[in-house]
Amino acid sequence: MVTGWPNLSNPTDSVFFLIIGISLALLFITSGTMVYFVIRYNRKRHPRPENITGNTALEIIWTIIPTILVLAIFWAGWKGFVFKRTVPKDAMLVKVTARQWSWDFKYENGIESQVLKVPIGRPVKLSLTSTDVLHSLFIPAYRVKEDCVPGMETYLWFQPDQEGSFDLFCTEYCGVGHSAMITKVEVVPQEEFEKWYQARGISLAEAAQRPVDRKKGALDIVTLLKDKGCLGCHTIDGSPKLGPTLKGLYTREVTVITQGKEHKIVADEPYIRRSIKEPRADIVKGFPPVMPALPLSDHEIDAIVEYLKTLR
Ligand code: CUA
Repeated sequence: MVTGWPNLSNPTDSVFFLIIGISLALLFITSGTMVYFVIRYNRKRHPRPENITGNTALEIIWTIIPTILVLAIFWAGWKGFVFKRTVPKDAMLVKVTARQWSWDFKYENGIESQVLKVPIGRPVKLSLTSTDVLHSLFIPAYRVKEDCVPGMETYLWFQPDQEGSFDLFCTEYCGVGHSAMITKVEVVPQEEFEKWYQARGISLAEAAQRPVDRKKGALDIVTLLKDKGCLGCHTIDGSPKLGPTLKGLYTREVTVITQGKEHKIVADEPYIRRSIKEPRADIVKGFPPVMPALPLSDHEIDAIVEYLKTLR
């Protein structure tokens, strides 16, 4: 059981409920004692105050009990920490690259995916990095969260023990497209995973180099745009998002700001190519200058440009 809570087999939940339990017990004990004292020792019942000088036994008790409680919290937390940092030997490795503003999951056979598909029952190790700024990968259902740091590798692991589709998103504010960094963990039966794993045995880069089948090609390009994170900010249906829509872009007249100067330009092929390669050279008026240069091959750029020409 991973979605609902409490999930006491997971140390995050067991430590959480241990601390909540202790806090609630203390709350009721102290409040109850306080209320009792207010009633028991009010002026009517106890008109003459007494001077109390101390009680050694009581002081020892209220030192020892809290010490035991905080040590218990420490112990549970430490065990949970060690559990979360110790990856099981048979874990499946997936390399995760975070970038503004999409996720890329790369499997050991080289295939890349934008959803994290994993087989049920086998632990998964995610090796994380970022190409630009700090991101943080969060899978609430599995109670795991870890920063993605440029130039550094971090990791986390989890045990997919229930079939289903769970949210995976960025939980470190990383710029205007932060909210677009959301995708899914798909936990599927072993056989289904194997099938997918074998069938998707070509990388997107390879796929992009294949001759584009016009009808099927359009579909593949949409996948490519999605996979590269383009559709996190641009739409292909005409509505504006973080960036201008790609629909009808080709040959449209756009007002851009180039080195602080505003001017009109026709979105022809050279303009589109430049906008992909040097996204901040000409900024379309009214949009933030936030687009990163993406790792696209020339083949991929060709394919995208050809596609945009058809997207009227
Ligand atoms: Cu990436 Cu927020």
